[in-house]
Amino acid sequence: MDSDRILIRRAAPLHGEVVVPGAKNSVLKLMAATLLADGVYRLSNVPAIVDVTIMSDLLEAIGVSTTFNDDGSITMTNRGNIVPVAPYELVERIRASINVLGPLLGRCGHVKLSLPGGDDFGSRPIDMHLKGLEAIGATFEMRHGYVEARADRLHGTDITLEFPSVGATENILTAAVHAKGTTVIDNAAREPEIADLCAMLTSMGADIEGAGSSTLVVHGVEPGSLHAADHPVVTDRIQAATYLAAVAVSGGEVVLRGARAEHMDMLLRRFADMGVTVTSTGDGLAVFADGRLRSIDVATLPYPGIATDYKPLIVTMLSVADGVGIVTENLYPGRFRYVEELQRLGADIRTDGHHAVVRGVPRLSGAPVRAPDIRAGAALVVAGLAAEGETVVSGVHHVDRGYDDLVGRLVGIGADIERV
Ligand code: UD1
Repeated sequence: MDSDRILIRRAAPLHGEVVVPGAKNSVLKLMAATLLADGVYRLSNVPAIVDVTIMSDLLEAIGVSTTFNDDGSITMTNRGNIVPVAPYELVERIRASINVLGPLLGRCGHVKLSLPGGDDFGSRPIDMHLKGLEAIGATFEMRHGYVEARADRLHGTDITLEFPSVGATENILTAAVHAKGTTVIDNAAREPEIADLCAMLTSMGADIEGAGSSTLVVHGVEPGSLHAADHPVVTDRIQAATYLAAVAVSGGEVVLRGARAEHMDMLLRRFADMGVTVTSTGDGLAVFADGRLRSIDVATLPYPGIATDYKPLIVTMLSVADGVGIVTENLYPGRFRYVEELQRLGADIRTDGHHAVVRGVPRLSGAPVRAPDIRAGAALVVAGLAAEGETVVSGVHHVDRGYDDLVGRLVGIGADIERV
């Protein structure tokens, strides 16, 4: 609820274990992929987040029903009565609604989709999605805020993306599985969540080479030849990083069960540069922090670079680190809005274009702040752990979109935090 707030008091060192949930940025795309073939799907390790509910509402409207099971899995049933229309009321709530475009186009040959919303951090165009889909035979018309797409039968071709866009890669991929012939997507995004989508598509009968690399080769199959599948959602590297950052600013020793070191390689190296020790435990990561962090310079880049979604956490860590760190945002120019909120907590940050200069202070001081989006909201909660006195974060509905029980998980490792 919008009136909800999170109250945080400065934390003593954190200890214990956190089970890291499945990834928002994977599960939403896997859910959209159930549009591709009739049958009953079971997705496990699904995070309990609001965006999953919104996506299930959208898919329900199109014709796929979702049942939430007690064990954290969902059962999705596609009976084949698909209406390829994604209405404004549902699409505007979530950026990932754009991910229904690829599957519907390949399967139904026509789609009517309201232009997507989602987090408001600068303009988020879909030109690369449309250009890639046009290359394999789709045509588009924009009318009254809707994209109307058509394609009699998609046909494979070679596509080179100007930029490794996550969403464009996913939409072209999920359309190309039904194209005639082979589609090669060069300069594809390589995020672990895309490899996860490739894995699910492959278990549905799709023929994809190069999963997890920057060249995806998709050999199209006949419409009707894919089938439903069961699939576990990959662990969320951003939620994992949030708990790492919490320990980094509070000190302590915490095990993150399910966290995947190989998906966070670059970030873990930079955390080590800041003085945070992270080791693999076999089924997760152990993080240890003690004393003040050291400042570093960081630039966000597409995977395997430092994800833009980690950035608010890194800026928060730098706010209390020893020295000056420069953070450069290379993906979303507008994505520094939470800086004003961190300043309210006493952080010394100056922004200039897509750079932020963060001069570490020994300690933040608690104040009321407002979460402007999902990741910044979580970073403000982490900042609250590093602040003297009480910090109250409002705009918690943003956090709920992408975090499965952030407060409960932090309480579990000894943080002094509650939802009020
Ligand atoms: C996804 C993630 C988001 C993450 C982002 C970058 C989901 C639901 N969201 O978003 O959390 O921050 O990847 O890692 O998975 N662009 C264009 N034209 C396009 C498409 C993108 O100019 O057609 C630009 C965007 O404005 C942005 C950059 O490319 O500047 C990256 O966008 P993209 O990788 O597509 O991100 P999303 O898939 O929207």
